[in-house]
Amino acid sequence: MKHIDSAPSTPGKFKIEKSPYNRLRLHSSLAKPTFWSLVFLGLIFVFFYRSPPHTTSDLSRRSLRTTFYRDANFEKRVRASAKIRSTNGISVLVTGAAGFVGTHVSAALKRRGDGVVGLDNFNHYYDPSLKKARRALLQRTGVYIVEGDINDASLLKKLFQLVPFTHVMHLAAQAGVRYAMENPRSYVHSNIAGLVSLLELCKEANPQPSMVWASSSSVYGLNTKVPFSERDRTDQPASLYAATKKAGEEIAHTYNHIYGLSLTGLRFFTVYGPWGRPDMAYFFFTRDMLKGKPIPIFEAGNHGTVARDFTYIDDIVKGCLAALDTAEKSTGSGGKKKGPAQLRVYNLGNTSPVPVSDLVSILERLLKVKAKRLVMKLPRNGDVQFTHANISLAQRELGYKPTTDLQTGLKKFTQWYLSYYGSGKKSAR
Ligand SMILES: NC(=O)c1ccc[n+]([C@@H]2O[C@H](COP(=O)([O-])OP(=O)(O)OC[C@H]3O[C@@H](n4cnc5c(N)ncnc54)[C@H](O)[C@@H]3O)[C@@H](O)[C@H]2O)c1
Repeated sequence: MKHIDSAPSTPGKFKIEKSPYNRLRLHSSLAKPTFWSLVFLGLIFVFFYRSPPHTTSDLSRRSLRTTFYRDANFEKRVRASAKIRSTNGISVLVTGAAGFVGTHVSAALKRRGDGVVGLDNFNHYYDPSLKKARRALLQRTGVYIVEGDINDASLLKKLFQLVPFTHVMHLAAQAGVRYAMENPRSYVHSNIAGLVSLLELCKEANPQPSMVWASSSSVYGLNTKVPFSERDRTDQPASLYAATKKAGEEIAHTYNHIYGLSLTGLRFFTVYGPWGRPDMAYFFFTRDMLKGKPIPIFEAGNHGTVARDFTYIDDIVKGCLAALDTAEKSTGSGGKKKGPAQLRVYNLGNTSPVPVSDLVSILERLLKVKAKRLVMKLPRNGDVQFTHANISLAQRELGYKPTTDLQTGLKKFTQWYLSYYGSGKKSAR
């Protein structure tokens, strides 16, 4: 047998190979690893030199390396922010806390005495100075927003070590339908990879928190049955944004099924209000109307009306809080499921769609300016013709009942806009 032939005849000594053939074999067996190491090193060299310039996700990955949280002050701030001040209060990690919805939800939780820690990466999708202003607003109420990415597993781990969160309100996401054609990777980074990163942490946590997270009405995509009900089909997304939100709902199902995480997805319908998002029509219409610039009003084929189920932020906040309050505990611990856990999806809309041209008429009255309307065909870049929520499930199970009509809500928005930006000097970017 070969392996016995090559064994030393005397312990401690190796048999001297005599034949030139054997010498060659010895040489080549020594040379082999060297040769393959060189080939391997060469391949690494070629890979690094030929790889394309840094993509967004490379950049985001590099920016994940946050180390500031080793600082003692950081721990103190997190603990203070997470302090529960009411009996039966909960402790909530709010992701996307410097965002529009995140700021309002964080403030509302803090107001009623819950512990709140925010997390946001302050990305530049829209003017980060608005996010910083929201952070300053929250800071005054005692909410601390940690600057970091939901993909940063070590940061998440640190936060869960510092605070045994009972709930996670997950609002961080790459929002916007049209931007997906410009920067598709950012949607995968935040809405898919980021969601999985967070769920991984929640599943490992002991106790596991219950999670409420933002899906979107966009999952209804090309569905034409109105009003949109949670039972309707959601397998025809019209944008990558919608597809990542739909993927999120499927991923949530998996973590609920395998690990016993209690998960509630909320399909928001066009949320608007003070401190809103500058990329949304009601916001940039206001900005452009005040500047005397034309605004695009889309219409569908055959002059079809484009309409949205505009939902005021305070109504959405009530829905979010009700979802947190009715969330059952997760059943797993340390990555192991102990029994079936709650899995829910709700529409949070206003259930009264308004044509976009009516929205402009209301803005004209409130801002006292005449809009320069540019009527255009609805481009096929992700927008759908209308949205309309059936909210009976949320009404029944969450006690959700929107109370703000578009006229009232826009009045509050324009008042905020004018006080924040002034009527022209400073304006939204
Ligand atoms: N506003 C709406 O009309 C609407 C409608 C449907 C769904 N939603 C969903 O609701 C949630 C909140 O929306 P919004 O309007 O407040 O948007 P927003 O953009 O104002 O807030 C999202 C926040 O998440 C942060 N963020 C993004 N990626 C992150 C990451 N990888 N790590 C950490 N932070 C990250 C952003 O900096 C931002 O501050 C989002 O999930 C959005 O998709 C909103």
